[in-house]
Amino acid sequence: MRPFIISFLTYAAMTVVVVVVESFQPVVVLSPSRGRVSSLIRLRESSSSEDKEEKPAPFFSVDATAATESSPAPAPSPPAAVDSTLTLTAKTMDEGIYGFNKAVIDTVYDVICFLYPVKGNDRDYARFFVLETVARVPYFAYLSVMHLRETFGERYPKMSDRMRTHYAEADNELHHLLIMESLGGNSNIIDRTLAQTMAFFYYWYVIGIYTFNEPAAYHLSELIEDHAFNTYSKFTTEYEERLKNEPVPDVARKYYENDNPFLFDLFCTVKNKSESIDGNYSQRRPQLTSLYDVFINIRDDEKEHWKTLCNLVQYDDMYAVDATEVQSTTPEQKVTTA
Ligand SMILES: [Fe+2]
Ligand SMILES: [Fe+2]
Repeated sequence: MRPFIISFLTYAAMTVVVVVVESFQPVVVLSPSRGRVSSLIRLRESSSSEDKEEKPAPFFSVDATAATESSPAPAPSPPAAVDSTLTLTAKTMDEGIYGFNKAVIDTVYDVICFLYPVKGNDRDYARFFVLETVARVPYFAYLSVMHLRETFGERYPKMSDRMRTHYAEADNELHHLLIMESLGGNSNIIDRTLAQTMAFFYYWYVIGIYTFNEPAAYHLSELIEDHAFNTYSKFTTEYEERLKNEPVPDVARKYYENDNPFLFDLFCTVKNKSESIDGNYSQRRPQLTSLYDVFINIRDDEKEHWKTLCNLVQYDDMYAVDATEVQSTTPEQKVTTA
């Protein structure tokens, strides 16, 4: 109870700070991070795709009556491709913040690896249950802060787009969690308690970081998603045969094969120009024949999250560079004088 009261009071104090700060803002403001965007990005926004914000958002162009399971809504089209005549400059991360973020995430990840070593048995699903419970928290934290800012009158062109994408990411992570639960990953009360306690504190931590430094908060998740991709990649490689003999959970079949793919497509913001078909990423999803395919899909989802986060950290733009050009954020190299 006591940690809850302390967390509540901390959040209340932060809310007061945000209210005071927002009270001095005009009703209509530009992106809070606009000042951090490189001039090249501003040039791009004004020349090529400001207009993507003026176009009706894909969400509203969908005929609601057509959005049924038997007749899925058209997939949202990502904004116009980046103007190839302009070169974007990736921002680096402050060395101190980069190092601190990496230390936090690596420590948490190492603790989970220590407590839940992968052994090729059903306890592996408990490990993934814990990881998924924690890894999905940031998307709700971003949304919470953005909702609050929106309430206090903050408006900027990319805001709605970004909020929809974060919701779609959270929904995707929810389904990873549901899959792990269907495999028994949450059957032990100790695992549930550990996962939910970590998620509770991590939520408030991300709220604090995102409120004052969006790129730093996105970078935290970039590191988590990178770990997630590598974990699933290793798991599917090492236990391919075992996974291929396991059935597809119902919830996985519903989400990946039967549900309307609108939200799925929405979080895949980083196109691969050589592969995409009219921006409809769901067309690339393989059919599920075994649990192996389910884990491959989950692994690929983590990669999509990672790509979007890299673009957000480095360009403040979910669609900035092509999938083939996305790279991990690097720390700022300080020039030292002799
Ligand atoms: Fe996930
Ligand atoms: Fe993820």
